[in-house]
Amino acid sequence: MLHADFHSHVMPGVDDGSRSAVETIAMARDLVALGVTRLYLTPHQFKLGNRLTLVDVQKRVDDVWRILARADVSLEVCRGAEHYYGEEFLDAVSRQEDVLIPFDWEGERGLLVELPMGRPSVGVERLAQVLAERGFKPLLAHPERTRHCTLDRAMEWKDAGWSLQLNLLSLVGRHGPEAEQMARTLLQADAYDCVGSDVHRPADLAWLRDAHKEFRSISEVVAS
Ligand SMILES: [Fe+2]
Repeated sequence: MLHADFHSHVMPGVDDGSRSAVETIAMARDLVALGVTRLYLTPHQFKLGNRLTLVDVQKRVDDVWRILARADVSLEVCRGAEHYYGEEFLDAVSRQEDVLIPFDWEGERGLLVELPMGRPSVGVERLAQVLAERGFKPLLAHPERTRHCTLDRAMEWKDAGWSLQLNLLSLVGRHGPEAEQMARTLLQADAYDCVGSDVHRPADLAWLRDAHKEFRSISEVVAS
C-alpha cells in the first residue's frame, strides 16, 4: 500500500507546499528512498485562491516530470488535486466545469476531496452519489483530521460511496493527538483504502520515515 502516495504538495509554486524545484527534487528523492514509486501531485483547489484548470495542472505535472528526469529521480508523478469541500466546489460539480481535477485510479476517475476541519459538513453522503453519477470515484482526504469524525461516521461515509485516504503523518502526531488517535482507530478497523503523505516541505520527510514504520507495524497486527 505504501508504494503509491495519493496526496502530496510536491508540485512547486502552486500552493503552500513546495516553494521551488530544489524542494520538489529533495522531497521526491526522499519519497523514493522510502519505497514510493508513484506520487500523485495534488495541489489545493478552491483554497488559497486556487482555481486551476485541468490543462494547467497537467502542464505543471509534465514540468515536474522534466525536473525529476533532469535530476535523475526515478518516480512516476501523476495528476490530481485536493478539492476543498465548499460552495465553489459544489458549484463546479453541478456545472461540470473543467476545474475538477480527477486522477487515474486503476482506470477509474478518482477525485480527492477535503472536508472543512472544524465543523460538520452537510450533504457528504449525498455528494458521493452525485460524484459517482458524474463518473468519479470519490476519495475523502484524511478523514481522521476532521474534528467531527468518528469511527461510525467514517463507516457511514464509506457506505455512502466514499473511499478513505489516511494521512501517514497523522500516525506520528503531526496533526495533533486527536487526529493521531482517530487515524489509529480507523487503521485498526481496516477502514482506509489508500494512503498519502500530504507532505508540504522537505522537513516533513523526517516525520514520514517514522510514519511508514508505524503504518507497517499497525498493518501487520491488523492482518494477523
Ligand atoms: Fe493536502
